[in-house]
Amino acid sequence: MKLIDGKLISQQIKAEIAEEVKAMVATGKRAPHLAVIIVGHDGGSETYVASKVKSCHQVGFQSTKIAFEDTITEAELLAEIEKLNNNPELDGFIVQLPLPKHISEQKVIEAIDYRKDVDGFHPINVGRMSIGLPCYVSATPSGIMELLKRYEIPTSGKHCVVIGRSNIVGKPIASLMMQKTNPGDSTVTVCHSRTKNLKELTLQADIIIAALGSPEFLTADMVKEGAVVIDVGTTRVPSTETKSGFRLKGDVKFDEVAPKCSYITPVPGGVGPMTIVSLLRNTLLAAKGEVYSF
Ligand code: GUN
Repeated sequence: MKLIDGKLISQQIKAEIAEEVKAMVATGKRAPHLAVIIVGHDGGSETYVASKVKSCHQVGFQSTKIAFEDTITEAELLAEIEKLNNNPELDGFIVQLPLPKHISEQKVIEAIDYRKDVDGFHPINVGRMSIGLPCYVSATPSGIMELLKRYEIPTSGKHCVVIGRSNIVGKPIASLMMQKTNPGDSTVTVCHSRTKNLKELTLQADIIIAALGSPEFLTADMVKEGAVVIDVGTTRVPSTETKSGFRLKGDVKFDEVAPKCSYITPVPGGVGPMTIVSLLRNTLLAAKGEVYSF
């Protein structure tokens, strides 16, 4: 069994990005600039946003955090987005989700100029991705693809079972894994909460991508010997062992599943660190006036 070290790969990619930023700045260009909007005080979101801002500084990006109380109205938030769309000093921006109930996430996503949508959530980017056109690919699926690529894990002709059908992970990773690319070129099955014969399907999988958000859902009896297991779960559970009072739990029962796998991602330190790196890569592309090409 080989552990897929997302932390290590993310550090390598950050170093590559930092080099590129240095070269850009040396030619007189300004550093890439990412803005992050956060609304309210969701604990998870505050941690993620702090981590995104810190990562920007690590690679030499400029970053702007824009925080609003959850009393902000939808109209006010949309007006703020319009300002960022029109700000030439900004290459890309994201609005951290989830948003308070009185604000439509879909309206917010669609208000972002797709050319600055470094989260890759806008329907134009999602649509372009699904037919293999240059676009911004959302962070988690893009991070998973990068791990498969850097570990040279064969995917062509393999059966990939995705568990979860969210817009942020399940749907886009299924779309990417079926594309005629490397990584990709897999036969993809998407399972979800209504799937009847889930275990029957996961037992056929060469690659399992668990993205349902249910701690330790995938157990050893559901996994074929030699499978590749990618754990996207990041459920925060209370813990007395950490300073924050929380720790992250994956969707995979790691201790019993790992011995059966050819490759597996841990939680934390697997897919998680890669998501921020994907955001940085998209922002760098935006700063260069480019998008990801398959
Ligand atoms: N909330 C959880 N993950 C994400 C993400 O990748 N982007 C944004 N904007 N919000 C999130």
